[in-house]
Amino acid sequence: MAEVTVSGVEKRFGPVEVLKGVDVDIADGEMLVILGASGCGKTTLLRLIAGLETVTAGEIRIGGRVVNDLEPKDRDIAMVFQNYALYPHMKVYDNMAYGLRNRGMAKDEIDRRVKESARILGLADFLDRKPRQLSGGQRQRVAMGRCIVREPAVFLFDEPLSNLDAALRGQMRVEIRQLQKRLATTGVFVTHDQVEAMTLADRILLMNRGRVEQIGAPMDLYRRPRTTYVATFIGSPAMNLIQGHLDATGARFEREGLSIALPTPRPREGGRPVTLGIRPEDLSPANGTGEFALRVGLVERLGADQVVFGDVVGGEPLLVRLPGAYSVVENDTLHVVPAPDALHLFDPDTGLRIDEEATRAAA
Ligand SMILES: Nc1ncnc2c1ncn2[C@@H]1O[C@H](COP(=O)(O)OP(=O)(O)OP(=O)(O)O)[C@@H](O)[C@H]1O
Ligand SMILES: [Mg+2]
Repeated sequence: MAEVTVSGVEKRFGPVEVLKGVDVDIADGEMLVILGASGCGKTTLLRLIAGLETVTAGEIRIGGRVVNDLEPKDRDIAMVFQNYALYPHMKVYDNMAYGLRNRGMAKDEIDRRVKESARILGLADFLDRKPRQLSGGQRQRVAMGRCIVREPAVFLFDEPLSNLDAALRGQMRVEIRQLQKRLATTGVFVTHDQVEAMTLADRILLMNRGRVEQIGAPMDLYRRPRTTYVATFIGSPAMNLIQGHLDATGARFEREGLSIALPTPRPREGGRPVTLGIRPEDLSPANGTGEFALRVGLVERLGADQVVFGDVVGGEPLLVRLPGAYSVVENDTLHVVPAPDALHLFDPDTGLRIDEEATRAAA
């Protein structure tokens, strides 16, 4: 078991600056999920922790020890890749034992570890099978088993579920979460799937173009996104962002055809331009008098709920998520009201959240 500390880490490949100063402390036993769009540097950060790449600047510590100059095998980590390759000609048992044999571990210790890991992973009955005699999920578990037998201080996962179908992915997600908690091993899990991130993480590190956009518990990122980037990345469908300004007293958000009272007035910020954020699920129907008069366009019926694609005055698009049973008709006008505590304000230029506490303290 170990904590992992990443301090001021930068990584360049020739002229390309991939990581531009990443800081994160991962607690012992914590599951940190690195989430971000393709190419933002997730795998690079994981490979740096693993020792498969060297940092251009900064420091990485595992269990308090600086590992910058340590070989991967000396870092006490185990990595599960997206394209895990099992040895097709070897039985499950031998696939799991292989790495330990290579290290010259005693035979009975190998046997103990393989059997214990197989039990934890529900593979005890499959030890004599070849990989081709297993389902995709079982193979994925063998790949994890190869890591578990090493009893590492840190597990590193790089999108290990992305080759599985949706149902299996959901099931493996739960299994990985339970396993990591049971073993109490520190984990770093890379994904670009926000649902995977929300369900697996103790904390999410949301990365954007080689920088940390926000780190926090999944629901912190959902409830208090620090930037419009986080606001639209977390949550599906994405948060609505509407351009407008505060009225002179800072008590209302206004734009053409729309005026919404804020739960807390911001007198010091009266008149300033702002971006208002409202999640589709934070809008609910109001009988004829709601603040948003929505012209209903497409309706996506998902069963338990439905997503209404509409537009408000001025043609601005607005998405609303409603219970599946609510009756909505295309081309009708739908009046909706936002939940008062669910309005987010951002600076239109920087995309940064306009912080209520700071505003209140200054006022
Ligand atoms: N060895 C390399 N040489 C040059 N550029 C590289 C190298 N490895 C990665 N990059 C570049 O660094 C950037 C980040 O790559 P990385 O693989 O970390 O992204 P990622 O966030 O894991 O993306 P994905 O979700 O697609 O896996 C990309 O622009 C990539 O092209
Ligand atoms: Mg990657």
